[in-house]
Amino acid sequence: MSEKRKIIIDTDPGQDDAAAIFLAFGSPREIDLLGITTVAGNVPLSYTSRNALILCELCNKPEVKVFAGCDRPLKRPLVTAEHVHGKTGLDGPELAEPTYSLQSRHAVDFIIETLRSEPAGSVTLCTLGPLTNIATALQRAPDIAPRVRELVMMGGGFSEGGNITPAAEFNIYVDPEAAKIVIGSGIPIVMMPLDVTHQLLTRKDRVARMRAIGSAPAIAMVEMLEFFERFDVEKYGSDGGPLHDPTVIAYLLKPELFDGRVCNVEIETDSELTAGMTVIDWWHVTDRKRNVRVIRKVDADGFFDLLIERFARI
Ligand code: RIB
Ligand code: CA
Repeated sequence: MSEKRKIIIDTDPGQDDAAAIFLAFGSPREIDLLGITTVAGNVPLSYTSRNALILCELCNKPEVKVFAGCDRPLKRPLVTAEHVHGKTGLDGPELAEPTYSLQSRHAVDFIIETLRSEPAGSVTLCTLGPLTNIATALQRAPDIAPRVRELVMMGGGFSEGGNITPAAEFNIYVDPEAAKIVIGSGIPIVMMPLDVTHQLLTRKDRVARMRAIGSAPAIAMVEMLEFFERFDVEKYGSDGGPLHDPTVIAYLLKPELFDGRVCNVEIETDSELTAGMTVIDWWHVTDRKRNVRVIRKVDADGFFDLLIERFARI
């Protein structure tokens, strides 16, 4: 990666969101983090916003601006995931309430104003939660779509199916209408579905390497992951849980770790049974627009080597 990548992280922390944010914090030579925008998802907006501030303070990043965004999906009632993330969304470690404060601007205004003021094609959107903020920004300011360099998102599922319903992955399921708007926006999109993230298990040896870093952020991350993984270990019987969100940042840092193809992706919004399903035309059996680069392979050892190396730099 030559020049610093200007990014906005849109997130619903979330222990795995925390790992993505830490990865960005540990990569200042490659990443220029313009701001963090929070959205309701894993837990309500009040918690996701609080959590983003906690993560900045834990890593001694007072300069990072956090903007609270949408507190509910475009049309549907909010569905949250306390059963996975705990009541606060960052259950696991003992964490003090943040002393850092939110910015006064709404996240959607920040997204619009940043994309309008930064040079066209220079800002990457990194989405780790439901796409409500991004869709709202696109609805309010359609002119920003061609100004986005790329949108890298964690969301969706192909042969792995869903994790919140048999058909849908959580980020898409919470706000399928928002996902439909974003997917159809013409923005260059890279999608990290469950098919990739389920290859990235927080195995005991990997968590032990994180713990050995010994810093406050590393220890807090270990305690978050030990809480977060219990649900998936129980569900899948695996050694550790899938680490979803850091794939988005890792893709910016080392795209060579990943492999996929550009194909058509559509979002189911009408069916009750399959709402939020990402219908991925991997084999190009339709002539629908090939609008998303869908990632399906990852070098798992290379990913965790990167993650642990960068955590140690925070
Ligand atoms: O389905 C996994 C995704 O939903 C992750 O982003 C997790 O943080 C939750 O938001
Ligand atoms: Ca998330």
